[in-house]
Amino acid sequence: MNALPAAAGVGVRLAGVGTALPERTLTNDDLAALVDTNDQWITKRTGIKTRHIAEDGTTTCSLAVDALRAALNEAGMQPGDLDMVLLATMTAEMSCPSTAARVVHEVGATPAGAMDITAACSGFVYGLNHAETLVRSGHYKTVAVIGAETLSRITNYEDRGTCILFGDAAGAAILTADEDTSRGCLAQTMRSDGSLWGELYVPRTADDLPEKHDGFTGRFNTLQMNGQEVFKFAVTTTQAIIDETLEKAGITPADLAAVIPHQSNRRILELVKKRMDLPEGKMVINIDKYGNTSAASVPLCLNDKVAAGELKEGDLVLFVAIGGGMCWTTSLWKL
Ligand code: UT7
Repeated sequence: MNALPAAAGVGVRLAGVGTALPERTLTNDDLAALVDTNDQWITKRTGIKTRHIAEDGTTTCSLAVDALRAALNEAGMQPGDLDMVLLATMTAEMSCPSTAARVVHEVGATPAGAMDITAACSGFVYGLNHAETLVRSGHYKTVAVIGAETLSRITNYEDRGTCILFGDAAGAAILTADEDTSRGCLAQTMRSDGSLWGELYVPRTADDLPEKHDGFTGRFNTLQMNGQEVFKFAVTTTQAIIDETLEKAGITPADLAAVIPHQSNRRILELVKKRMDLPEGKMVINIDKYGNTSAASVPLCLNDKVAAGELKEGDLVLFVAIGGGMCWTTSLWKL
C-alpha cells in the first residue's frame, strides 16, 4: 500500500451507529398476492427476500428519531452533545420544516443545527461527506448523519417493476472530532447529472412529467423508474467512482476492510464486486433482509458490520451510492 494522503484539520471518528426498522414485513410471497410476480423472479433478479414496511403512525421522522437515539446510545453520548443533524431522505413528510429540525427537537438536542439533504439513494453518503468536512474544519465537534425513508408511502403497489424493490428504515451515524488527524475521510466524490432525472422521479402533477414519459405508470406521487437504464448507469458509474476514489487515496481494493454500498440490486453489487476482485465477505450485502431502502441502506449495512464486530480502528472502509438525480458518490474512510 502506498502512503495515504496527508489529512488536514481535525481527525474524525465514527462514534456510534444505530438503526430503526418498522416491525411489519412484506415478503416476496406477500407481493405475489398483489401483482403478477413470484419469489423466484424477485430473488433471482434482485436478491431481495423481504422488506420492512411502516405501520400507520410510523413516519420518516419517527424512524429517524429511533435510529438517532440508538446511535447516541452506542456512542455513549447525550443529545446535548450534538452540534448538528443532517438528515438524508426522499420521503420527508413535509417540504417545510425539515425533518431534521423535528428530529433535533424530539431527541432533545435543541438548539443543534438541522438540515435535510435531498440526494435520493446517495443522500446518506453525501451527508457523511458534508458532516465529515464540518467536523474536520474544527467549526463543529459532533455531527449526526441520518438516512431515513418511508418509501412504501411513494410506492405504487400495482407496478411490479418498482414495488418489489423498496422498504422502509432509518440509520444514523455520529461523527465526532478525534485527536488523531489521520482518522476520517481520505478521499471522496459527489457527482450529479440532472439530464437523466426522468429515469427516476416522483411526479406530483402532470407538470412534473418529463418530455418523454411513455413509462409513466399513471399514478402521481409514486416513484417512476426506468429500471434497465438505472441498472446500466449504476454499474458503470459505481465502478468508475470506486476506481477514481481509490486512486486518489493511492490504495487498491486489497487494502480495504469493507465496501459498504447502497443496496440497489444484488446483481449490480455482484458485478461491481467481481470487477474489483473483492474477496468474499468484504462487500456488505444485506438487501435480502431489507430491500432497497434508499438513503437508509448504507447505515443499515454499516450497523450490521459494526454489530458483527467486523470493523476496528484503522480499517479502511469505502462507502458508495448512486440514485435519483442522477447523483452518485463515494466516501473512503480510515476508521
Ligand atoms: O436505488 C437506486 C436506483 N434503483 C436501482 O438501481 C434499480 C435498478 N434496476 C433494477 O434493479 C432492475 O432493472 C429491476 C429489478 C427493476 C428489473 O429487473 P430487470 O432484470 O431489469 O427486468 P426487466 O425490466 O428487463 O424485465 C425483464 C422481464 C420482462 O418481461 P418480458 O418482457 O421479458 O416478458 C418484465 O415484464 O421481467 C418482467 N418483469 C417481472 N416479472 C416478474 C419485470 N418485473 C417483474 C416482476 N416479476 N416483478
